[in-house]
Order: sequence, then structure tokens, then C-alpha cells
Amino acid sequence: MRDAETFRVEAIRRLRADVPGRAIVAASGGIDSTVAALLVQEAIGDRARALFVDTGLLRQGEVERVGAFFRASRLSFEVLSAEDRFLSALHDVTDPEEKRRRIGTAFVRLFEEEAARSGADTLIQGTIAPDWIESGGQLRDTIKTHHNVGGLPADLTLKIVEPLRDLYKDEVRQLAHHLKVPEPERQPFPGPGLAVRVAGPVSRERVARARVANAIVEEEVERAIARSQIPRPWQYFAVLLPVATVGVMGDNRVAGEAVSVRIVESVDAMTATAMAVPPELLRTIAERITRALFGTVTRVLYDVTDKPPATIEWE
Ligand code: XMP
Repeated sequence: MRDAETFRVEAIRRLRADVPGRAIVAASGGIDSTVAALLVQEAIGDRARALFVDTGLLRQGEVERVGAFFRASRLSFEVLSAEDRFLSALHDVTDPEEKRRRIGTAFVRLFEEEAARSGADTLIQGTIAPDWIESGGQLRDTIKTHHNVGGLPADLTLKIVEPLRDLYKDEVRQLAHHLKVPEPERQPFPGPGLAVRVAGPVSRERVARARVANAIVEEEVERAIARSQIPRPWQYFAVLLPVATVGVMGDNRVAGEAVSVRIVESVDAMTATAMAVPPELLRTIAERITRALFGTVTRVLYDVTDKPPATIEWE
């Protein structure tokens, strides 16, 4: 990208040529798809609908937070509630790649239906270069299928347009700044959402538990950052593990699940280091999680593994 203004003008020209009819824009709430949606809005106005899907796999307060971010970016958007659809697509699925494929398919089917409703034939996505490079576009092996790339079904009826597909993250940030998009939430959140933070089977109850644990980790880490106890990590979250581990409830032994806390430092997510955080922070997180999820989560662990050999997410 030479400069943001030249890219904007060129992208708008290309979008007008590529989208003669109506389009659906997949707006995830992240910076990439927000920038893509703003370019589309500028290029073709109300011939495009920007859709934010509530998959039921989002974090606590996410719909409100994303809505506020879109409004501050002056993006016209709609929220689609689709929790039941996503949970039933994930029913009985434990393989992480299969989760991503099912989620990708559920997104696309939903977008196809919405496109049909508004007479659109094009789906616009905020895919950037590292997304398709990590999805096997250039590497020998697929590391993780990004649900918006490798997860697309073969019989897709919509034409895909990706205005940012040659850009890297720093270029998107530059463009966002140029388009006066406010700073989004600072830590990345995977497209498949809490489905990959609930290791093993995905159910409404397990997602709800992972959501509570995640909110506690976020709150406590942000508190520690505000008190200058730790620098801002790259990502900080909780993962619900499908193990039965024994705990005590009053006089009884109970089997609950375990939660793994992950706090990592990274520059570009290609490599990462598990952060050495103060033990009191971990103790507070463990106490709060086991109290909030009393009887269902009986153990909290801290993941000390770097990437590589581990990935940042568990799945
Ligand atoms: P890993 O776990 O591969 O993650 O070390 C690298 C970065 O990518 C995020 N991530 C995803 N983002 N769809 C996404 O949009 C996905 O399927 C996905 N899987 C991982 C992860 O949170 C980290 O920032």
C-alpha cells in the first residue's frame, strides 16, 4: 500500500466495478471488516447491508460493545441473532477444524439467506493477507483454518469480494486511522468465538461457563494493567477444558471441569510468550472463577507454554 488515501480511492473504484448489484457485508466487529464495510458503504451506499451476527459464541457485553464501535465509526449496520442456528450446527462436534468449518458454513448459509432477502449476489469480507496465508494459501500445511477463508463451503452461491486481501495488519490500521475509525477493543478475538475456547463439545451451558470465566480473566487482567502491575498482554482469556476433576463442595466431593487461563505476549501472533504474571493475579482469577462457577468448575490452571510449540488458542 503506497498511502491510505490512494488505497481508499482505488478500493472504492474497484468496489464499484466489482459490485454492480447489491451486497451483504460480513461485519465481525474487528478492525478489518469494519474498514472493509466503511469502504463498501462509501462505494455503493445502501446497495450494501453490513451484518453483525450474534452467534451466541460472543463474549459478555460484546454485542453492545461492537454496536458502540460501529456507531462511532459511522457505519450503518444490522444485528442478526442466530444463537440457536450456531449451537445446533456445533452439536456433537469436538474437532476444532470441524468446528471452524461448521461455523463458516453456518455464517455463509445465513448470509445467503439474507442476501436472497435483499436481492444481493455478493458477499464482502474483511479478509487480509495473513488470514489466507495461515489458511494454507501459501504455506505447505494448514495450521488453522480461519473460518472466513478455508471454512467456505464449495457450493457457495455468492460472489466473494475482499477489498483488503493484499493488506497486512499495520496497513489496515493506517487505513482505519485515515477513515477516522476509533481504536477498537485492543485484544484480538477469534472469529469462531467461544466455540474454540470451549475445548471439546460445545453446548449452551459450556459456552455460558466459558463466557463467565473469560469475563473474569479480562476484568482482572485489565485491573492489573490499570494498576501498572503488568504490561498490556497481546491476549488474555480462559478456556474451558473437557475434563472431570475432583473438587470439594462442603462435605462432598464433586467432579467439575477445569479452566485454563492464557495470558500471552506477542507482536504478530506468529510467535507468543506466556506472560510471567504476579501469583496474586492468578489466585484472584482462580478464586473468582471457582466461586462464580461453583461446582461446575473445580480447578483453574495457568498455561505456561509458548508458541511454538503451542498455539495461542487451545484449539
Ligand atoms: P493461534 O491459536 O493459531 O492464533 O496461535 C493466532 C491468532 O489467531 C487467532 N485465531 C483466530 N482468528 N479465526 C480467527 O479469526 C480463527 O479461527 C482463529 N484461530 C485463532 C488467535 O486468537 C490469535 O490471535
